[in-house]
Amino acid sequence: MAETPRSLKDFDLSIKKASKIVIEQAETGQKIKIISHIDADGLAAASIIGKALARKEALLTIQTCKQIDDRLIQELSAEEGSVIIFTDLGSGSLEALKTKLPKKEVLVFDHHQPINGAPSTITQVNPHLHGFDGSKEISGAGVAYLAAKSMDKKNVDLAPLAVIGALGDAQDKNEKRELVGFNKKILKDATDTGLMKTEKDLIFYGRETRPIHKALAYTTNPYIPGLSGKEDNCLGFLVNLGINLKIEDRWKSISDLTVKEKQKIFSELAKFLSSKGFTNNITLSLIGTVYTLVNEDRWIPLRDAREYSSLLNACGRMNKSGIGIAIGMGSRGKILEEAQEVLINYKKTLSEYMDWLTNTPKVIEELEHLYVINGTGVINELMLSTIASIVSSNGLFNYSKPILALTSAENGMIKVSGRISPHISHGRLNFGTILHNASSKFGGKGGGHDVAAGAKLPQECTNEFIRVVNQMVGASIQEQGM
Ligand code: C5P
Ligand code: ZN
Repeated sequence: MAETPRSLKDFDLSIKKASKIVIEQAETGQKIKIISHIDADGLAAASIIGKALARKEALLTIQTCKQIDDRLIQELSAEEGSVIIFTDLGSGSLEALKTKLPKKEVLVFDHHQPINGAPSTITQVNPHLHGFDGSKEISGAGVAYLAAKSMDKKNVDLAPLAVIGALGDAQDKNEKRELVGFNKKILKDATDTGLMKTEKDLIFYGRETRPIHKALAYTTNPYIPGLSGKEDNCLGFLVNLGINLKIEDRWKSISDLTVKEKQKIFSELAKFLSSKGFTNNITLSLIGTVYTLVNEDRWIPLRDAREYSSLLNACGRMNKSGIGIAIGMGSRGKILEEAQEVLINYKKTLSEYMDWLTNTPKVIEELEHLYVINGTGVINELMLSTIASIVSSNGLFNYSKPILALTSAENGMIKVSGRISPHISHGRLNFGTILHNASSKFGGKGGGHDVAAGAKLPQECTNEFIRVVNQMVGASIQEQGM
């Protein structure tokens, strides 16, 4: 496939054109609906456009979804209101949006690979169309932020949300966990305005806010077997190291520790991870750039951008997107308390799934070109992506082939999440295209990024679908001479 040449000018123009339409519609009092994805990036993107439009006093409603399907499009076409803005999704469904929503002004702010070019009736902003890699350089929230900033310079204060979206989509898989490309420019907006600061440190959730054993237990990327989700074990681990965990009666946080104490914790963790088969790269990912929202209270999970993104993700995955978006748009108090409750329940559920996965024989099946994780009847469809991401990005299972995770979904369907682990050569295997093509064969729908993609299709086709994906990965490997 020929690469699209990079053109900043064209990308800029498409942002300006789209934001102009949004402003016109808002100012003429049209009802505007935002539809966004349920993950952290999607909620951050919806919060950004939502806030930008609220500042224009637009007539606005916001809704989230797992993915665009026929039922959603039907509902939208029957609703009043003439403008629909899709954020962090849409580029995989352009044809359906064009044909089934002919009377609506449709705008798409996305960073997933576009499936069918850009139909003329739809205004699409997508970095891939201008040669930029939407899976690494900019998130859905980043695209939404650039549009919001073009709508009004004041919206530069929404830059931290775009950083949160990028971290939620794991776009920090670079040396020292830095952000690159557009994400780096957006981060500069966030630091120039004094809203964020960056430091190099141990990357534990709640580095400034939580007791150290809790911060370690909350860290799930990488997912550390025996420690992630297990506060008591973490406490034991740290006490055995001889770390003094309290100052008088108060628990210390990571930021209270001396460099020597941090080194001690890191080197012991490195030994522990290596004994569990984790690679050096994964261990090193525990040290790197920490992104802090300096105006947030020190004791809440919004202070650390990765933790903020976990909170948003938890809200989306636990069916509480509204709470996440309210937080993104500035609500605190009672809403924040509810969000923290959701986060606790989410982490508990995640830990139960991971225990199930590690302790149940034959859940993971190895095929010629794939590993298949079958969570049917166990894993909630909203949590499948997180499980697939964790499994593919840590050394627990030492995957040398792409991973296809699946579970039962509503209405007799299966939900599929595909991930290509960073340990294996990727960049030439495109899981987004493979899952799109394979699910289409069975009346399903799929797509996404090269290393992270998803699909939904009728449950009765499961075995045949797995066979086809296995075959397509094999054919791709052969074609690319990998
Ligand atoms: O659902 P899951 O998180 O596994 O999907 C991985 C990525 O693929 C996500 O970014 C999701 O938005 C995208 N995706 C897509 N089209 C689909 C399903 C998933 O673009 N039909
Ligand atoms: Zn995204």
